[in-house]
Amino acid sequence: MKEQATIVVMLGAPGTGKGTQAVLLAERLGIPHISTGDLFREHLAAETPLGIEAATYMNKGELVPDEITITMLNARLEEDDCENGVVLDGYPRTLVQALALESYLDSIDEELTMVANLAVPEALIVKRLSGRWMSKSGNVYHAEYNPPKRKWFDDEDGSPLYQREDDKAETVLNRLKIYEAQTLPLIDHFREEGKLVEFNGVGEINDINDEIFEALQ
Ligand code: AP5
Ligand code: MG
Repeated sequence: MKEQATIVVMLGAPGTGKGTQAVLLAERLGIPHISTGDLFREHLAAETPLGIEAATYMNKGELVPDEITITMLNARLEEDDCENGVVLDGYPRTLVQALALESYLDSIDEELTMVANLAVPEALIVKRLSGRWMSKSGNVYHAEYNPPKRKWFDDEDGSPLYQREDDKAETVLNRLKIYEAQTLPLIDHFREEGKLVEFNGVGEINDINDEIFEALQ
């Protein structure tokens, strides 16, 4: 990574809009959007051993072990397209991952630019996830709140959309429990480091993105 790269972390419970906002923000900043969830799903689609192992955790709504996740993410950060920075979506998600990221950035003389935390009430989260449709490339739609131009195909490349295995109601509830136990403590961690900026995740998608973009300027 170059000096003064922009490194943004999108933090927030499942369904708060991390992916939706990260795709838009990365496009505006001209840097890649990296979602650990998307990386695991790509591995699964390609039936790699990593993807098959990750799916055993994901389908139960549990986190994939830190060691696997950190190794995969660090390898991704080494790629050339990350030179000017990245928008990280769904990583870090445990204190161990946060410390691993910070020590990696430290080793290359970089630091986090901003951690954007999105807040959305739980009742709305369940509605958002049950109506979500995804493209293989990581674009996110919602049947009611953000429908694709053509049902159920990606606006960008026309590929068929799909619904995620872990968006079933019971798995969503488990994901929320795991979030509270393992990821919520990161809010205090990043606040103490002076990196946290909080955003209301309820509202127009583009308005929320403007707020995040402006906070970075
Ligand atoms: P991941 O894929 O990251 O899932 P998640 O954290 O549960 O988050 P989601 O993708 O469900 O929600 P989102 O916040 O991205 O919301 P979205 O923008 O889609 O991870 C999946 C699994 O992989 C994990 O459970 C774990 O097993 C594993 N994993 C991943 N990272 C890991 C890590 N670091 N360590 C260990 N394991 C890891 O929006 C949701 C819906 O709402 C969409 O339909 C969207 O269109 C709609 N929407 C968005 N914004 C708005 C708005 N403003 N108004 C109305 N609707 C909206
Ligand atoms: Mg997502």
